[in-house]
Amino acid sequence: MWRRFLPRSSFFSKKASSSIGATPRFLSTNSVGSSSYTIVDHTYDAVVVGAGGAGLRAAIGLSEHGFNTACITKLFPTRSHTVAAQGGINAALGNMSEDDWRWHMYDTVKGSDWLGDQDAIQYMCREAPKAVIELENYGLPFSRTEDGKIYQRAFGGQSLNFGKGGQAYRCACAADRTGHALLHTLYGQAMKHNTQFFVEYFALDLIMGKDDMQLILRHVAVINGAGTCHGVIALNMEDGTLHRFRAANTILATGGYGRTYFSATSAHTCTGDGNAMVARAGLPLEDLEFVQFHPTGIYGAGCLITEGSRGEGGILRNSEGERFMERYAPTAKDLASRDVVSRSMTMEIREGRGVGPLKDHIYLHLNHLPPDVLKERLPGISETAAIFAGVDVTKEPIPVLPTVHYNMGGIPTNYHGEVIHIKGDDPDAVIPGLMAAGEAACASVHGANRLGANSLLDIVVFGRACANRVAEICKAGQKQKPLENDAGERTIAWLDKLRNASGSLPTSKIRLNMQRVMQNNAAVFRTQETLEEGCQLIDKTWESFHDVKVSDRSLIWNSDLIETIELENLLINASITMHSAEARKESRGAHAREDFTKRDDENWMKHTLGYWENEKVRLAYRPVHMNTLDDQVESFPPKARVY
Ligand code: FUM
Repeated sequence: MWRRFLPRSSFFSKKASSSIGATPRFLSTNSVGSSSYTIVDHTYDAVVVGAGGAGLRAAIGLSEHGFNTACITKLFPTRSHTVAAQGGINAALGNMSEDDWRWHMYDTVKGSDWLGDQDAIQYMCREAPKAVIELENYGLPFSRTEDGKIYQRAFGGQSLNFGKGGQAYRCACAADRTGHALLHTLYGQAMKHNTQFFVEYFALDLIMGKDDMQLILRHVAVINGAGTCHGVIALNMEDGTLHRFRAANTILATGGYGRTYFSATSAHTCTGDGNAMVARAGLPLEDLEFVQFHPTGIYGAGCLITEGSRGEGGILRNSEGERFMERYAPTAKDLASRDVVSRSMTMEIREGRGVGPLKDHIYLHLNHLPPDVLKERLPGISETAAIFAGVDVTKEPIPVLPTVHYNMGGIPTNYHGEVIHIKGDDPDAVIPGLMAAGEAACASVHGANRLGANSLLDIVVFGRACANRVAEICKAGQKQKPLENDAGERTIAWLDKLRNASGSLPTSKIRLNMQRVMQNNAAVFRTQETLEEGCQLIDKTWESFHDVKVSDRSLIWNSDLIETIELENLLINASITMHSAEARKESRGAHAREDFTKRDDENWMKHTLGYWENEKVRLAYRPVHMNTLDDQVESFPPKARVY
């Protein structure tokens, strides 16, 4: 049995300093049983957790506005998963043809299957051209047209003139290594702006004010009002010291949780840490049932082959050599929205037209494209295909399969990046001091399905929005309340418990069980039966975590402990995903139910909110924002989504 653990004795010998500064002010110790932990207190105007594109863009903005900013990251910044983004970033720059941000907005609302919040979508698409030009000015080495403009390629679900003008060329790119270029550019800017980095620090929990919460225990939380976030507690993985970062503003930019699945394009580090911190604080996660499968992960290896390859003219063929997307999406064909292409591929395989000895995948052909186009525009995936599939793309097709790629859901925010929850009659009540951006967040600009190349856009637009919002509501150097003396104490007790966990199941075994359940039971197509079974299995997997075994007791580079913390984070995300999916009795975007094949706007045009309470999932719902920000554009009423 998992027993809740309270420290026998604990103390923080000194209060945290109230002055602002990068230098740790006080050291203290916290004793749990026979263990003693060194605590270091810091105070900042703002603390950003995560150093991918969203975290870096937020940190740059905060530093620019004069806020003393710490960026805590479990990875060296340029190793963040943003580095893996390939295809590009959407913006109606109009470099290849006339374009308009309203057309981009229409495509995004349609792509979201009308679950996206239209005020946030307007904000993102309107800001997009500015955001891309800003990146260009920061030095991002974009690919160019003959006349020196930023080159823009075709991408899935992008159209001109509200779907009536044919394919749009809206995706600005740096060959097929756009995320790499973007991340390195932003890191350089963060250096220039003197952001203080805490590298290889693992953020463990939010520090929430107790004054306005009725009860907060780990995994047991009852919110009674708007809790305030006062910072985070983190573990320095190098020396095992614990760090309490007191901050008036905490911005979570911790990425997605793709690694809940067995096969994902996401890095092994995509473990939903920020999401789990929020859930443990008793706050909801939004729309987790919407998990994106990218149509073209390499069969077996799962590595991403960019949608840009289809944007440059690549086509999918089945075992009969047929370009089957013509049947499923007569207009957009291979460049239909990702959920549509992934489902079509799955149908082809199910109906016996898959390729390979097991007829269980599909071919992506690039071999008809001129070799110089492949070399100039798709060098990265040409290399990836050679290494991971043994394929020369100039001669042979790449074996591909829909592979988990992105989490549309996450920490609910408004379009400023402020974290929201339901408080009384208000479904959009702001949690003071807490913000989120990027894949960790759900603004919700992607709704039920994200369009390719709207993710790099999301991270820079909403990273910047968070910084701008802080500048609107806060002053640099603003006095902060001292932390509660015991702030972080429960987290330390929990850490100590995990570190000394002496059950019978290694972390890797529980993780594999979870990944199998997610892969089998929350797949491209879902039914009541698979989802109900999935709920039972994922609940059992959570239970089995009480019997976890951690073999390394040290605090110095203890990857066994870190993977166990990550596993808990993954399990919380996986549980909420499965239960949210089981509850949603309709098909919308990436949530495709074989037993409820239609979108049901009357009953289900609403966001799911999943709470983690008493180690169980509780669901609630909040309305979708159908309103726009102003009269620059009218909202787009729901209609059938065809490509
Ligand atoms: O296919 C891709 O290059 C992925 C892009 C994205 O997810 O935005």
